[in-house]
Amino acid sequence: MHRVNRKGLLAMVAVSCEARGSDAAQSNVCQSAVNRSWIAKTFHWIVAGVFAPPQTGARDAHSVPPDRKRVRELTRSPKRTASPVGLVVAIGVLDAAIAQTKPAGPVSSDQVRRGEYLARAADCISCHTANGGAPYAGGLRLDTPFGYMLTPNITPDPDTGIGGWSADDFYRALHDGVNKRGADMYPAMPYDFYTRVTRGDIDAIFAYLRTVKSVRNAVDVNHLDFPFDMRMSMIGWRELYFMKGTYTPDPAKTASWNRGAYLVEGLGHCSACHSPRNLLGGFEKDKDFTGAGVDGWFALNLTSDLTTGLGAWTVNDIATYLKTGAGKTTPLGPMAEVVRNSLRYLTDTDLKAMAEYLKSIPADSSVLTDRNGPDPTRAQGAALYFDHCSGCHQANGRGISGVFPQLAGNGVVLASDPANIFKVVLGGIPALGKYTAMPSFASQLDDQQIADIANYIRTSWGNTAAPDATASMAAKLRKP
Ligand code: HEC
Ligand code: HEC
Ligand code: HEC
Repeated sequence: MHRVNRKGLLAMVAVSCEARGSDAAQSNVCQSAVNRSWIAKTFHWIVAGVFAPPQTGARDAHSVPPDRKRVRELTRSPKRTASPVGLVVAIGVLDAAIAQTKPAGPVSSDQVRRGEYLARAADCISCHTANGGAPYAGGLRLDTPFGYMLTPNITPDPDTGIGGWSADDFYRALHDGVNKRGADMYPAMPYDFYTRVTRGDIDAIFAYLRTVKSVRNAVDVNHLDFPFDMRMSMIGWRELYFMKGTYTPDPAKTASWNRGAYLVEGLGHCSACHSPRNLLGGFEKDKDFTGAGVDGWFALNLTSDLTTGLGAWTVNDIATYLKTGAGKTTPLGPMAEVVRNSLRYLTDTDLKAMAEYLKSIPADSSVLTDRNGPDPTRAQGAALYFDHCSGCHQANGRGISGVFPQLAGNGVVLASDPANIFKVVLGGIPALGKYTAMPSFASQLDDQQIADIANYIRTSWGNTAAPDATASMAAKLRKP
């Protein structure tokens, strides 16, 4: 299945964003010019929805999949005993109740300001803004292997947006994943994370959204193929993997750890990219935050693993990276968007809290693989590195401080999946923060040569990643 290739596109957009300055309003529009095809990563839920075994009646504790146990640690989870049929009935009842909820009351400007901040932390704008479109007016295309979706308009327009929604309707959408018509939403909208957000915070986001410019833009959301286009098909996925429940602070931990957990696990939905999913679109607890593929990029390991994770980063290193993009590695691809659209707006206190929480995630060493014996392509890789890369990154992989990043001990180079090395070498990197641009090598190096260089830098200067890059990986990322 072929998806939109962002190679080049990303570079172009990022460069033109820099040129246009960091004015908030401008950069919103600027960023939305990036096609967020990475959301296709979540396509597994579609399969799960249709092919998951039907769940009947109450479940007992030992039939709860590990994913749910994970969520339970962080949320107060009311026991779900509804069968699919019960659920449909319940939805019908709720639907009738909704008709009677009254519109939202008056709002204070404090609440609106807080809501704006929280909406930033949740990065609502990235998905709900079309390429070059008005903020929050929807229409961004999300591709999946089974058709596509367009994000809905969430400006206050009464006919095409959420102007007619009450605060209760809005809470139900974010907390329960059920829209105003009472239909299950697809988890392409990350309500499986937003469910952990408090009622007060969701009300504040709602108050803020009521103040954004109202835009008339009718969006036909669902363009998925049959049978995935049937919302009923989400019942299987929800039964297996969706556990609603607001975050409950852990009294054994500090207030700032709890704040960090709330932001990372709820609003920030970091796991949506950084945790691998199983075939049915659920998370496995023991692999949480160990990294996952996103649109050809690899969202790196965020556990405290020393070489592939954040083990060697201090709380300040992480907070600075989230705020400015400067640090031990440079945010690339989808992560550059997250920093630009969301994280750079957060306070230092919140970013430090997130860093404190991330530092507490135990190291995962399962990704460390034994080095193989002597590799015949290594000499070839070394020669290519000296010809094409060492001029900037230096023969010893140490780079030049503040000018060219060092590749020794670099998380991008050491990741369990070498995808980002291919992405960078093929696509180059636009100038970001303190660094200049890195050129693309797509036309100078063939697939095998790039794989050889990748394996060389993964295993040199003390780097201990597996030399598992192959020419076919490069070929796949090169395809338009
Ligand atoms: C990763 C992309 C993504 C992010 C981030 C996201 N949304 Fe959504 N949202 C969607 C998609 C896709 C839908 C459509 C889901 C459906 O109809 O099944 C949706 C639906 C909605 C709806 C229902 C609208 C309707 O007319 O049915 C609301 C309200 C909403 N989102 C609000 C928000 C808010 C508020 C945030 C931030 C806290 C947010 N979304 C973040 C993708 C996203
Ligand atoms: C002209 C100088 C130059 C050359 C030649 C060059 N790079 Fe780079 N490289 C950079 C710069 C500058 C960055 C940081 C760009 C940024 O983040 O804005 C970078 C970043 C990277 C990164 C990402 C590191 C991170 O922390 O995010 C990798 C991996 C990388 N280069 C590998 C290579 C490889 C492999 C080659 C040879 C095929 C190469 N580079 C050739 C200048 C260069
Ligand atoms: C849209 C997908 C996506 C989301 C959401 C996302 N990330 Fe990332 N992240 C990535 C990708 C891809 C990379 C690897 C590319 C790079 O080096 O920047 C990355 C890299 C990182 C790194 C650098 C790790 C290293 O070893 O160099 C950190 C730290 C990080 N992310 C933290 C976060 C946090 C905290 C959140 C939640 C607030 C988050 N990310 C949300 C995709 C995402």
